[in-house]
Amino acid sequence: MSDVKKLFIKTYGCQMNVYDSERMAEALGAKGYDTTTEMDEADMILLNTCHIREKAAEKLYSDLGRMKPLKEDKPDLKIGVAGCVAQAEGGEIMRRQPMVDLVVGPQTYHRLPAMMDQVDQGVPALDTDFPEEDKFDHLPKRVTKARPSAFLTVQEGCDKFCAFCVVPYTRGAEVSRPPERLLAEARALVERGVREITLLGQNVNAYHGEGPDGTWSLARLIWALDEIEGLARIRFTTSHPNDMDDDLIAAHGTCAKLMPYLHLPVQSGSDTILKAMNRKHTGASYIALIERIRAARPDLALSGDFIVGFPGETEQDFEDTMELVRQVNYAQAYSFKYSARPGTPAAEKDPVSDDVATARLHKLQALLTEQQKAAQENMVGREVGVLFEKEGRHGGQLVGKSDYLHAVHCDAPVEMIGTVQRVRIEASASNSLKGVLI
Ligand code: SAH
Ligand code: SF4
Ligand code: F3S
Repeated sequence: MSDVKKLFIKTYGCQMNVYDSERMAEALGAKGYDTTTEMDEADMILLNTCHIREKAAEKLYSDLGRMKPLKEDKPDLKIGVAGCVAQAEGGEIMRRQPMVDLVVGPQTYHRLPAMMDQVDQGVPALDTDFPEEDKFDHLPKRVTKARPSAFLTVQEGCDKFCAFCVVPYTRGAEVSRPPERLLAEARALVERGVREITLLGQNVNAYHGEGPDGTWSLARLIWALDEIEGLARIRFTTSHPNDMDDDLIAAHGTCAKLMPYLHLPVQSGSDTILKAMNRKHTGASYIALIERIRAARPDLALSGDFIVGFPGETEQDFEDTMELVRQVNYAQAYSFKYSARPGTPAAEKDPVSDDVATARLHKLQALLTEQQKAAQENMVGREVGVLFEKEGRHGGQLVGKSDYLHAVHCDAPVEMIGTVQRVRIEASASNSLKGVLI
């Protein structure tokens, strides 16, 4: 028997959870755990959960229920729950599902090795604190196998309190990591072969890290990353319209490594609904902002998030959203039916009927899909940079991401994985483009 134990992590939710899962794997690596992609062979299963919409907790309990036979077959199997449902539900998870050995919130996973010691002694471990210490200072160095594109969490939490959203409760107050640490982590990633870094934060453009010479904005951090040799591309997500400052807008036109893609959620086009959502911007101020960003970078691909069926949304409010979408013209977007989240102010209000919300969602999605299709078809015949990330399903083919974040398939030698190549786009499929090397 080998001493190496196998860790299986299932990640739900946003990119920040993807980043957290990698860091948790590294933290448990120090306890002798190697990751596996096969749940059946795991000695420990960790579910990194998301609480943002509908039935998140129910989904967790049904997933846990399905794991029961595994635990019965292998009594030593450890089961842990991490992430935003862990934060929201805490000890309730162990009461409802006693086979869970460990519950850890998003701000305390640096304590996982100590929690595992406790679990190994047969005592369940629960930690959903918002600790004083910075978890990032207590985690091992990044060791995950380098892929060409990596995430780097620079900011966490949110102080905005949109009326529908759980993030300020599950992730806590806004905290920015110091710029020197981030630059060191970025340099280490690049040394291990990373070519593209996506800066992450629930409110990434509210970044305000304390440097040795005062507070750094996200724009300043981007310019410092721009100087790292070997780093080819910088992206960031997710932004709030009210935190797009002049320097960040300007960087889209002047920083060559900053990619021409921006995810800037607006949620609704109706000022009444935006006010009820506590968004603190209007449809018109959002459109004016988009015009300024497009003036800095005319070919910018814009993406957004929308919620339909927010309490009180009338047919006219919904039409205002459709009109905003027509005006902005998105390259890509996510849209959701409003989901009442326990503990949020909007959950107290009378809901829009589910039939109405569903019909609106379909209508909005049809428009967004049409725009996405047009944006992709517009790429045909154009030359674009593509960072090749991995081999495609067909022999001789690689898959990568265009500057505008389209998935691109292209015949190219495997040695080109991890490089940015010029590609001419020849065709557009439903969710990807096909191109040839120039
Ligand atoms: N910080 C980001 C988004 C975080 S959550 C921002 O401010 O834009 C990602 C998306 O999930 C949100 O933009 C929103 O569109 C959606 N969302 C959040 N809470 C929701 C809820 N209660 N119901 C439906 N969609 C929701
Ligand atoms: Fe949620 Fe609003 Fe904060 Fe985004 S800005 S994380 S939607 S509260
Ligand atoms: Fe979900 Fe938490 Fe991210 S609720 S979207 S995993 S911040």
